[in-house]
Amino acid sequence: MPEPRLLDPAIAMAAVQARLDARGLNLPERGPVDDGPSPDQPGHPEYHRKARAEFALARWTTAVPRRYTNARIVAHPAAAAWAQQVATQPAEARSLLLTGPTGTGKTHEAWAALHAIAEAGPARYELIATTAADMYGRLRPGGSEAGTETSLGRLTRIPLLLLDDLGSAKASEWVEEITYRLINERYNACKPTVFTSNYPTEAPRDPKTGTIIGPGLDVILGDRIVSRLTEMTDVIVLAGRDRRRAA
Ligand SMILES: Nc1ncnc2c1ncn2[C@@H]1O[C@H](COP(=O)(O)OP(=O)(O)OP(=O)(O)O)[C@@H](O)[C@H]1O
Ligand SMILES: [Mg+2]
Repeated sequence: MPEPRLLDPAIAMAAVQARLDARGLNLPERGPVDDGPSPDQPGHPEYHRKARAEFALARWTTAVPRRYTNARIVAHPAAAAWAQQVATQPAEARSLLLTGPTGTGKTHEAWAALHAIAEAGPARYELIATTAADMYGRLRPGGSEAGTETSLGRLTRIPLLLLDDLGSAKASEWVEEITYRLINERYNACKPTVFTSNYPTEAPRDPKTGTIIGPGLDVILGDRIVSRLTEMTDVIVLAGRDRRRAA
């Protein structure tokens, strides 16, 4: 029996191609086959990012007060950059302090930034939002969450916290103590927090006499809190008219 001839695959392909060429036909180009999942299929990173974003946006929607449900555009580049960092590298993210006079849009900007974080599809989106006054009201002896250890613990441990209107509640030793414990714990754990306040961190002083001529968080809440706030936050000052009156 004659030995079967072993055909070189390259020669065989060239022969096939020559016949096809003679008939004016063409073999499709060969290339890598992309049989991985598409962006709308499980297994594709974009599919999972979208699923995380959907979960986070649902959380945002349940937390946001009705007035701020349309807060979308993050007006200040520093706030937008902060939101991206919280979404992608929460362990490295700093905190944000939005200050400025009444009605300049601090709370709106805070909710817009929190929305941007949710939209980016972060790995975790666990958020508590409260005004400082409400927080003191709940934690105060006789308040709805008066067993302070657990409730304050929840606020210190939550990955993302919005503390609105810092410094607006009536100051007292107890308010200072609770605020100090909360901020100190979050400062130590490097957990991102958005603060808003009507007051600058340092009280303005008369340049000639050095006398304090207006309120500041240092006077209202004490130096130890403001020292930590200064290190842990990027400060954004919102200026302009009271949007409520303008409307
Ligand atoms: N960028 C914006 N686009 C549309 N509306 C806005 C914007 N920023 C703020 N507003 C609206 O202006 C009003 C005042 O905004 P906001 O409550 O955020 O001010 P604030 O600085 O937090 O005030 P306060 O110091 O009294 O807490 C709200 O009705 C808010 O919805
Ligand atoms: Mg506000």
